[in-house]
Amino acid sequence: MPDALTPPKPPLSDGVVTLRPFRADDAPAIAAACQDHEIQRWIPIIPVPYTEADARRFILMTLQAWHDGNSYEFAIADAGTDRYIGSIGLHLGPNERRHAMGYLVAPEARGRGVAVRALRLATRWGFANLAIERLSLWTLPGNVASQKAAEKAGFRFESLARNWELDRDERPIDAVMFSMTPEDLAEAEAAAQTETQAATRGGPTSSAPRVADVPREFHAAGTRVAPFVEIAAIADLAPGSMRRVTMAGLDLLVAWTDDGIVVTDDRCPHMAAPLSIGQLAGCVVSCPLHEGRFDLVSGETVQMPTTGGLDADGRYHSPWSPSGAAPKPEPPSKKLEARRLTRVNRLRYYPARIRDGRLEAQLPILPE
Ligand code: FES
Repeated sequence: MPDALTPPKPPLSDGVVTLRPFRADDAPAIAAACQDHEIQRWIPIIPVPYTEADARRFILMTLQAWHDGNSYEFAIADAGTDRYIGSIGLHLGPNERRHAMGYLVAPEARGRGVAVRALRLATRWGFANLAIERLSLWTLPGNVASQKAAEKAGFRFESLARNWELDRDERPIDAVMFSMTPEDLAEAEAAAQTETQAATRGGPTSSAPRVADVPREFHAAGTRVAPFVEIAAIADLAPGSMRRVTMAGLDLLVAWTDDGIVVTDDRCPHMAAPLSIGQLAGCVVSCPLHEGRFDLVSGETVQMPTTGGLDADGRYHSPWSPSGAAPKPEPPSKKLEARRLTRVNRLRYYPARIRDGRLEAQLPILPE
């Protein structure tokens, strides 16, 4: 265990949030935050009900942990008012590869990127002051907001760790594991800097290039451990445009939607028509065949094709006609049966990022 560190002076801050040691007068705000149903749901070790006495005990525990050097706990405070809006801690493990982060954000401070800001400040401080070789972070599987914050701050998804945690009744439950290495931190810092520069140069951030938040459960098979490779120069893309990029044996669709850039297959999830020659409106692409429409950010079907068929959950949808007229009845045939049994699955994504003006994606390694 390294020698105990002292709280940074001045406190860590990015001008929006400040990380400082806890104070006795934080107790009412901590108690209020920890009565939130979402916090109690996703952090099973938090007592229920949570009182100010629990908050005072927690504050004393954090101060003792700083003294002992086994855990560095910060209050996340609003940089303008210094009011408590969350907690973040770096918990030391038995060696440099076993340290871990944990955090929570009070309900009234959510939706403003507080967790990402706090994670960036705390990880930068931790890596600079402790010989960290790997930082872990885990959340419960349904805690998607927390997982998105972790990834945005530079943590990488690793696995579903089975029976990793205990629920309130001490029954084992799964957790989602993320990690960060010094290289991940350097990449995340460079990406954050590029984002800031682009926003400064390009005015509103909505027109600055960024990668859309797509559901991680829809990442294409084999991408999790695949390396990032360059697939396009950002200068060659434009907001609202789509293009096909062929590489590694894959026809990729690169689409710059209203919610950011996505990389998916250039194949309609219905019958494989190239989506790149369809129409993009906002986040929805219209297929050039059969009137199918698909949300490129959520991966969901917005409009089933005229042929009907099965949706992603296996429910049958009847054929329909764009004119509103009833479709012509057809005698039973193999073709009719094939259309009826064709399933329109959700889109699959290639995780992407922007580095130095290049769009990179994780492509599965294909056999030669
Ligand atoms: S191929 Fe796209 S809707 Fe049929």
